[in-house]
Amino acid sequence: MKHIHGKDLEAHMTKQAHRLAVLVSGSGTLLEHMISEGLPIDHVIADKPCRGLRLAKKARVKRIEFFREDYGWDQARQWSDQPNFNREGFSEGLASSLNERGITVAAMAGFMTILSPGFFSVFEGVLLNIHPALLPAFKGEKAVQDALDAGVKITGTTIHIATLELDAGPIIEQEAVRVMDDDTVDSLHERIKQVERPLYARVLRELLGGTRILPPH
Ligand code: GRF
Repeated sequence: MKHIHGKDLEAHMTKQAHRLAVLVSGSGTLLEHMISEGLPIDHVIADKPCRGLRLAKKARVKRIEFFREDYGWDQARQWSDQPNFNREGFSEGLASSLNERGITVAAMAGFMTILSPGFFSVFEGVLLNIHPALLPAFKGEKAVQDALDAGVKITGTTIHIATLELDAGPIIEQEAVRVMDDDTVDSLHERIKQVERPLYARVLRELLGGTRILPPH
């Protein structure tokens, strides 16, 4: 992490006026915290109908319903088994949609669609993700379950730059969370989210304010 001060900060802030989109699929509690903290979110994008969209509507944040069903996603199938999903079409369409609205940085907050090269060719190095484990440990969809299964005593959360390779991009921030003996996936995930909410909001605020620079990718 690189902090900028004084004159450098002023110069940097005039150069970098970011416009933020938050991408959601689920319960949206990270988004809810960002909204309650007054983070200037330009757009909320959802890949399916979800609570995050309703939260955005209530807070009068602009929304894009960019639903993956429109690109062949089958709700009845597993997340990892979607033979008819046009991932490239979805990714290119999403990138164009964000581009048209002048979005310069996007933050996935529980966004569950893996994006393909068509997205990254437009938004390379400016897509952030938050993952409920201390990467590079426990990549993938079942990070909390995998940490419990492995019997680790410490897990946590990672904010990183999303790249084509899943959960492998440069790390921006991490914070540790203790695993309790009686933890379930739900109890542990909720304790991780309690750490994630203020951490993600702070990182994004610093980024928008120009006091944090994204790592090279
Ligand atoms: C968070 O734990 C985040 O790390 C993961 O998805 C969860 C989102 O939670 N990628 P919510 O939908 O904001 O409650």
